Amino acid sequence: MSLNSVRQEWWEVLSPPADLSDRCGQLVSHQRSQGDLTTEELKGLVLSIAQAPDLWKPLVVTDPARRRYRLLYEDDRIDIWVLSWMPGQATGFHDHDRSRVALMSVQGTVLEKQMLLPSGAASVEMTPGTVRTGGAGYIHSVQHLEGLPAVSVHAYSPPLKLVGQFVVDEQGILERKIEHGRRELMDNSIRL
Ligand SMILES: [Fe+2]
Repeated sequence: MSLNSVRQEWWEVLSPPADLSDRCGQLVSHQRSQGDLTTEELKGLVLSIAQAPDLWKPLVVTDPARRRYRLLYEDDRIDIWVLSWMPGQATGFHDHDRSRVALMSVQGTVLEKQMLLPSGAASVEMTPGTVRTGGAGYIHSVQHLEGLPAVSVHAYSPPLKLVGQFVVDEQGILERKIEHGRRELMDNSIRL
């Protein structure tokens, strides 16, 4: 099946071409940490990947119907994903549970928001080259802004097993719903 077809087969999402995964694994092996990677190491990794478009471009998928993601690399310390964003596609507010994160725009622009309490949000327009990092418990939302598709690279350590999706019900009560780390996030009931 073509990588650019609209159908999303789960095995394909999780099956990066071996040469890409091997090369990415070499970048990971250069990090000094023996256990979980630091946010600075994650940042260095996404910067290195961004500088090698032949690593991430083959995993770009253009799909107006839903946000698409492809695994680039995983081991017991880290997983790295390539996300493709089309107009209207957004995650809603969420955290990454125990995982630290670094994300970088490599094509087009995505908008990252963080909640500002008691109301509002801080926004960062992530043009190509913009990197954001967060420790465990970091809360944000990401949405498409420009590019067909916009593309971002995300690295998580420890690997993203769980996410917390923040949802507001009809009474305005906030709830954190625990989701599998590989489930597509799309609840936008919090509008800031
Ligand atoms: Fe996230």
